[in-house]
Amino acid sequence: MYEITPALSADAPAIEALLDAAFGPDRKSKTSYRFREGVDQVADLSYVIREHGRIIGSVSYWPILIGESDFPALLLGPLAVNPLRKNEGIGRALVFKTLDRAAALGHRLVLLVGDPAYYSRFGFSPAAPAGFDMPGEDPARLQLRALDPQVLNTVRGTIKRSPRVC
Ligand SMILES: CC(C)(COP(=O)(O)OP(=O)(O)OC[C@H]1O[C@@H](n2cnc3c(N)ncnc32)[C@H](O)[C@@H]1OP(=O)(O)O)[C@@H](O)C(=O)NCCC(=O)NCCS
Repeated sequence: MYEITPALSADAPAIEALLDAAFGPDRKSKTSYRFREGVDQVADLSYVIREHGRIIGSVSYWPILIGESDFPALLLGPLAVNPLRKNEGIGRALVFKTLDRAAALGHRLVLLVGDPAYYSRFGFSPAAPAGFDMPGEDPARLQLRALDPQVLNTVRGTIKRSPRVC
């Protein structure tokens, strides 16, 4: 039986081990990590799935800024599932839960770097045709989901690292 709960600070070592298992130990060389280094993750959107107390999935979000207006948005990820537990709905449950929570908290726009074939089921679509870019990242992997559809009428541009430093 799964249990989705906010991540606790004591969960950090288990989450790091899960991320290493899911992405490999060189994961921090990915371009998207440049937008996370030295920036606090969004505390209210860090969730884990536990089974018998053991973490088998996790997701986190980071703050980012968009374009010349510095519009505040979210960068979804990393999302990781224990490699032995793929395709059981764990990733799906984490993404749906936290997108709902993000909307309830008043966040208006979410971006991510990931496989479009996976994230389209959550309403994500390619961000490049809508005028978004992430320096150093493959435009084909940059996806967006507007929690407030009006946002896309006015917001576009280059994704920037949030100045909120730990
Ligand atoms: C990608 C990942 C988060 C998916 O989580 P999951 O719990 O295994 O997947 P879910 O049960 O939510 O969804 C399963 C469905 O997604 C599909 N799927 C899984 N990974 C996919 C991918 N990379 N691309 C396209 N589809 C994918 C499965 O084929 C399955 O399809 P179906 O519903 O038509 O049968 C997980 O496999 C993982 O941790 N992978 C390694 C790390 C990673 O790539 N993270 C995402 C990038 S931020």
